[in-house]
Amino acid sequence: MSGLVDVALIGLGGYGATHRRALQALEKAGLARLAVAAEIDHVGQAEVINQLRQNGVQVYRDWQEMLDKGGFDVVGVAAPLHLHRIMVITALQRGYPVFCEKSAAVTVQDVAAMAKAADETGLLCAVGFQYLSSGMVRRIKQLVSEGVLGEIRRVIGVGLWKRTDAYYKRNQWAGKLRIGEDYALDGPMCNALAHMLNNCMYFASPVPGELLDPSEVRAEMYRAIPLPEMEDTATVLVRDKAGVEVMYLATYCNPVQKPHYYRIIGSRGEAVFEDGKLTVQVEGQSPTVEEYRGTGSTELMYRNFLAALDGKEELLSPIAQSLRLVRAQNGAYISSRRIHEIGAPHVRRYAEGETMATEILDLESHLEACVREGGLPSDVGAPWGRATSWASVSDLEYFAPVSVEKLSD
Ligand SMILES: NC(=O)c1ccc[n+]([C@@H]2O[C@H](COP(=O)([O-])OP(=O)(O)OC[C@H]3O[C@@H](n4cnc5c(N)ncnc54)[C@H](O)[C@@H]3O)[C@@H](O)[C@H]2O)c1
Repeated sequence: MSGLVDVALIGLGGYGATHRRALQALEKAGLARLAVAAEIDHVGQAEVINQLRQNGVQVYRDWQEMLDKGGFDVVGVAAPLHLHRIMVITALQRGYPVFCEKSAAVTVQDVAAMAKAADETGLLCAVGFQYLSSGMVRRIKQLVSEGVLGEIRRVIGVGLWKRTDAYYKRNQWAGKLRIGEDYALDGPMCNALAHMLNNCMYFASPVPGELLDPSEVRAEMYRAIPLPEMEDTATVLVRDKAGVEVMYLATYCNPVQKPHYYRIIGSRGEAVFEDGKLTVQVEGQSPTVEEYRGTGSTELMYRNFLAALDGKEELLSPIAQSLRLVRAQNGAYISSRRIHEIGAPHVRRYAEGETMATEILDLESHLEACVREGGLPSDVGAPWGRATSWASVSDLEYFAPVSVEKLSD
């Protein structure tokens, strides 16, 4: 595309603010600009909307009307997860390439329908997993695809996060299974820490640009915070046909927030990313340490999207790869069968400013045992652990639980 690419953005508040900042930077760089927007909340976003209108940006209330009127080149979607499917498919069918915020969607049938629409229209659909644009992720993928670590056997990701009750008041879909007929599955695995599972599956495949193709999943999904319907703690094993395994351990119930930890184990060596340092140890060589800061950015993902539109780069995160991710995510709920409650005496609830925080006692040491022994909490003797079975996801095409109690139906 020549000249400034005109972007129509759906969703201005929440993470939409990051899209707006990215588009401002791209306008300065002469690449793209926010030309048109759709935002349903004209009260909460009044200030932003006034400012945009002063700058000549037309702001609609109804995203479908915006698509009907047209007058732009591409569509950005920064609206809530459960609306992605309808917005993305409609935009593609109207002829617009789409940059959709992560996660693409949360059920296999929704992501498959979105990927099919991209295929049928021949238009690009990128998913905003911005970690894929970070130096750390690019470097680890390079080590894996160049075979520096040998054949990859296991990838481990640990995310020990802290989210208070206030987090669940941020919007109407926070912590929910679904809103009306649309699935939100809003927990760490499908939303805030979906990046980590996406990264782990990306590291586990030696093929550039590809995620591990999951064949079976075993998971134990837990809830200790009383507010959400979905999990606050996800412990998941994902395997491909060759037995390459991803271990994903994510929680919102740690007493302190810690950055993601990654360990990639190959037949010839391993790489560990912890606290900004990537340590690479290859057989017969001295270990090397490289420093990486930052988690990539939405601006870089837009730049990649624009370069892909011009045929200059491959998409870092095409919708087709999110189909692999969502099969693993849905398989985790199928395997766990339900979200298992963790209650007293294993949980501490405590005041944190105006809100409440939740700690699963000794969680970090149980998760360390998972990493050490290669099992899930029930395997390593966590007193609240609930054993589960492997679920096949090779041919998974549909996942539509009617309630959190019936996640496997
Ligand atoms: N990449 C990241 O690190 C990151 C971080 C946070 C959120 N996200 C993603 O961003 C997306 C939005 O999440 P959020 O927490 O900002 O959600 P949100 O509920 O705050 O919504 C974002 C904006 O969309 C607007 N909106 C809602 N429904 C709309 C509709 N029908 N038409 C037009 N606008 C509508 C809201 O009013 C709000 O201004 C999600 O996919 C989420 O997973 C990504």
